[in-house]
Amino acid sequence: MKKILVTGGLGYIGSHTVVDLLENGFEVEILDDLSNTSLSVSEGISNITHKKPVFHNIDLKNYDALQRSLQSRNFDGIIHFAAYKAVGESQNKPIEYYENNLLGLLNLLKITSEKNITNLIFSSSCTVYGQADELPISENAPLKKPESVYGKTKQFGEEIIGDVANLGKLNAILLRYFNPIGAHPSAEIGELPIGVPNNLIPYVTQTAAGIREKLSIWGNDYPTKDGTCIRDYIYVMDLANAHTKAMQRLLNHQNETSVEIYNLGTGTGNTVLEVIETFEKINNVSVPYQFAPRREGDITAAWAKPTLAEEKLGWKAETSLETALQTTWNWQQKMTK
Ligand code: UFG
Repeated sequence: MKKILVTGGLGYIGSHTVVDLLENGFEVEILDDLSNTSLSVSEGISNITHKKPVFHNIDLKNYDALQRSLQSRNFDGIIHFAAYKAVGESQNKPIEYYENNLLGLLNLLKITSEKNITNLIFSSSCTVYGQADELPISENAPLKKPESVYGKTKQFGEEIIGDVANLGKLNAILLRYFNPIGAHPSAEIGELPIGVPNNLIPYVTQTAAGIREKLSIWGNDYPTKDGTCIRDYIYVMDLANAHTKAMQRLLNHQNETSVEIYNLGTGTGNTVLEVIETFEKINNVSVPYQFAPRREGDITAAWAKPTLAEEKLGWKAETSLETALQTTWNWQQKMTK
């Protein structure tokens, strides 16, 4: 049985990936500092899988603790999620973001090299493309200067991994996500936003649940069919499965270069208004909203060309927007109970 270390494994995408790995016969250990999640996620994972992964409560910035904790352990691969991810917050806390996202990565790469771990999957973002000149966005689209410190940490992270992989001892797959949404169908795990959500879907569900009074739609004067921004919303369990497939590719030595990059999206873009209307219809609830000025740093439209992932990883997003929005509402209702 292959053993995988998942950093940030109690976070949103991390926890769903842990479930998918366990269901596909991997042994998993989780490393998380609980800075943006809770231990209850671990129970959710166990309720779904009937397995209890070893948990390391470690901050990746603390190299000594990392070394101590992983000293006697071996892994066939690492999936690295642990990072701060709030775009707006990153502008106000650049030092914290660079320190957490980059020092954390550097420490992990040091351990990877010390322990001769040769397989790494890195959680990146479509934010590296900025407003792409062509849609859908393929992996060959030129990278743009990121709008946020968060985006820069993802671009720098990709570069750092590339430089280390150049030394010949590391194979890495960089996964650039579009907009992950939804929760596990069991409603045992999902997204746990702390404080006021920044992202669209948690704001929508909290508004439908009456926790927030009204959703503000940031801008209705974009050059799109209804004036609101377009994104590619991908179901989190589909996204999780791409990590399993990417790890299998590395473990089977199927990668063609030491660093491979894949865009993970559905290939379809939806406007903010379409998402809200679909959510209301499928869940039979209403989401009060108002139009508000554009949000700084938002791009007009982004959706993926996901064909490379299909060709090389044998992976494709399968779940509809409707189903994804149903799971997210089930999860919200469970949390509000
Ligand atoms: N939106 C609203 N109101 C809200 C929240 C969001 O109208 O209260 C709109 C945004 O303006 C945008 C869309 O909903 O048009 C999606 O916004 P999100 O904040 O959910 O997602 P983003 O596309 O802005 O950001 C996501 C990830 C980032 C990543 C980025 C890459 O959250 O981590 O994609 O483009 F960097």
